[in-house]
Amino acid sequence: MNLPITKRSTLYTLPFFMIMVLLLSSCGSDTTNQMSKDEQKQLTDIFETISAQHQQLMDKYAAHNDTLPPNIRHLSLQTQKMHRRMGTNHQRMMATHQQRKIHDQKMQMGHMRMHMENHRAGEWYQQMRDMYSQMQKLHQQYGQEELALMNKKMADHFKRMQDMVPGLNQPTDIPFSAQSKPSKLNGNRFYVRDCASCHGENGQGIEKVYPPVINSKWITAEKSIPIRIVLHGVRGEVEVQGKHYDGVMPSFKARLSGAEIAAILNFLRKKSDDNLSKITQQDVLTIDKKYSNRSHPWSPDELMTK
Ligand code: HEC
Repeated sequence: MNLPITKRSTLYTLPFFMIMVLLLSSCGSDTTNQMSKDEQKQLTDIFETISAQHQQLMDKYAAHNDTLPPNIRHLSLQTQKMHRRMGTNHQRMMATHQQRKIHDQKMQMGHMRMHMENHRAGEWYQQMRDMYSQMQKLHQQYGQEELALMNKKMADHFKRMQDMVPGLNQPTDIPFSAQSKPSKLNGNRFYVRDCASCHGENGQGIEKVYPPVINSKWITAEKSIPIRIVLHGVRGEVEVQGKHYDGVMPSFKARLSGAEIAAILNFLRKKSDDNLSKITQQDVLTIDKKYSNRSHPWSPDELMTK
């Protein structure tokens, strides 16, 4: 072929250009899940600030334990417990990000794992953020401005952490692994581990802060409603047993399996009303699939109408 010189150079550069596009687009998907070294350092700095300020706050609570109202005393103890579990999940996520780039056939798996760890840590950040926000509100009601401010700062740090983790505002396409004997799971045990810190040991809620989950219309409603609440969370004013609550229920999709969600909900439903239909692991998987594009908490209105 006798092409003019400009055309020939286009022919040579085209494959090069296409390879660059491919490389760049794979880098693009990389950045959706993986944090850069700088971002990792920033997140670690915020986490260290959080840990130090959490300790100061807990020391303050320990010193004033006798004079604290019961709901604050309860919440501060729960926050302490949850802080430890959040920290473990945070460290695990950071370790995944610090691993050297995972290549070739392992790459897909590496991304999936990072995506899961990001979402799991993100759910914990949301949970801690709400616990500190609720403590802030309580202190304000009791006129304890200094403690209110300390809790607000903690909630703000967790918001910054949420903003920094990649992919948290995208749907969590984490596949659930099916449990072979889902009915053998002890719903009470999972409830105490995962829900009681906010909703109380016996599902009675915490006065002025967290709604009850026993004899609640949201628990006894048509199956898809409580399932969606646990999968994706709720935000906006909810009414339970004639009282109003306004907080953010965190999502649990990255932390619990379908069988665990079913076990917890069946435990709460049975305690509320013995005649309700059972929720199966398959129900949870079906609802999850139906709403797989969901990336943020439901509003109470959406739950009742969609
Ligand atoms: C960080 C605290 C927190 C944790 C942990 C938590 N929730 Fe919630 N939950 C809330 C808040 C806050 C609301 C109210 C949300 C609102 O105001 O829109 C709520 C609302 C609910 C509701 C609807 C209202 C009601 O009281 O029935 C259900 C059902 C529920 N949660 C179930 C659960 C289950 C099951 C778990 C454990 C898997 C759990 N929650 C864990 C904070 C929490």
